[in-house]
Amino acid sequence: MRPSKKMSDSRSIRENIVLPGDTNQHDTLFGGILMKYIDETAAISARRHSGRPCVTASIDGVHFHQPIPRDTIVRLTSFVCSVGRSSMEVFISITTENVRSDKIELAAVSFSTFVALGDDGKPCEVATVVADSDLEKRLQDGEKVRREARLKKRGETIALIKSLDL
Ligand SMILES: CC(C)(COP(=O)(O)OP(=O)(O)OC[C@H]1O[C@@H](n2cnc3c(N)ncnc32)[C@H](O)[C@@H]1OP(=O)(O)O)[C@@H](O)C(=O)NCCC(=O)NCCS
Repeated sequence: MRPSKKMSDSRSIRENIVLPGDTNQHDTLFGGILMKYIDETAAISARRHSGRPCVTASIDGVHFHQPIPRDTIVRLTSFVCSVGRSSMEVFISITTENVRSDKIELAAVSFSTFVALGDDGKPCEVATVVADSDLEKRLQDGEKVRREARLKKRGETIALIKSLDL
C-alpha cells in the first residue's frame, strides 16, 4: 500500500527583501526573479514530499496580481496539494509585507507540477497526500479540473513541437 503524508508535511517557506538588483525599470520585482523563487520554493516541497530527486514538469500560468516594490518583503509558501502516480502538484502563494505599514497582501498564486525520479532516472511512485485545513480541502477539490487542463496543454505542446521544423 502507498504511504500517505499530510500536505503540511511538505510546507516550504522562503522570504526575501526586494533589493535594487532585483528590480525592473519600474522599481518593482523583476518577474523572472519571482519565477526563480517560485520554482526553488516549490521544488523543496516536492523533494520533501517524495524524498526523491524531482524535476519541474510544468508551471501553470503565473498571474502577477500586484506589483512588488523595492524594499518589500516577499514571502513564498508552498506545499504539495495533490499527487498522481509520480507527479506532484505544488501550490505556491506569494505575499508581500510592507515594512513601513506592516500591511500584508497576496501578490500572486501559482501551481507547479514536479515528477519524482527513481534511481533509474525514470518517474517513480510517490506517497499520497491528505488535506486537513479548509484551504487544503478546497485545493484538493479543484485538482481534477486543473490536471485535465494541464495534460490537455501538454498534448497540444507535444503536437506543436512535433509539427515545428526549426
Ligand atoms: C517530466 C518528465 C520526467 C516526464 O517524463 P515521461 O517519461 O514523459 O513520463 P510520463 O509521461 O510517464 O509522465 C510522468 C508523470 O508526469 C506527468 N507529466 C508529464 N509532463 C507533464 C506536464 N507537462 N505537466 C504536468 N504533468 C506532466 C504525467 O502526467 C505523469 O504523471 P503521473 O505519474 O502522476 O500519472 C520528462 O518529460 C522530463 O524529464 N522533462 C524535463 C524536466 C526538466 O528538465 N525540468 C527542468 C526544467 S527545464
